[in-house]
Amino acid sequence: MYETWEELEKSIQGCTKCKLCKQRNSIVLGEGNRQADIMLIGEGPGADEDREGIPFVGKAGQLMNMAFAALEIDRSKVYIANVVKCRPPQNRVPEADEATACMDYLRSQVMLVKPKIIVLLGSTALKNILGEEFKITKDRGKWVERKEIWYMPTFHPAALLRDDTKKIDFFRDLKLVKEKYKQIA
Ligand code: URA
Repeated sequence: MYETWEELEKSIQGCTKCKLCKQRNSIVLGEGNRQADIMLIGEGPGADEDREGIPFVGKAGQLMNMAFAALEIDRSKVYIANVVKCRPPQNRVPEADEATACMDYLRSQVMLVKPKIIVLLGSTALKNILGEEFKITKDRGKWVERKEIWYMPTFHPAALLRDDTKKIDFFRDLKLVKEKYKQIA
């Protein structure tokens, strides 16, 4: 675990802990307010993120931004990270050894940001953070509290691009996040 942002940033530079390092252009650590009450965790960088070094700047991110705007959630006030920091080839799901290799970085980010709420975007984030027994179809939209952090599992925004009908649930879940934030922050 990394105790400070400086330590974390220094350690991740040139990281070769897993095979994803071979094809990456950028290490996409995270973006946003490092004192945020709300943190969002996605899966891993896509092509746009790999090029720009910033999470959720591609199509899925733009859709997420629209949801934020509709709910008046300020993107600059939240912190956004991914399970893996380097792009999996062809945007495949990160393999277990890759997620495990990257987990200390993510855990350190959570420890340093100290969010009150974590939104888990999609199955990869859900399973790696809360456990393999969780399923998006069964558990999305339901709060899970662990060690004084409230977790909200929801669809990955890329899933909404493939299936329009998921948008309603995604908005509903983010609305729950906004309401919880108003209560506890
Ligand atoms: N999908 C993710 O899971 N994360 C990103 O940063 C972009 C797309």
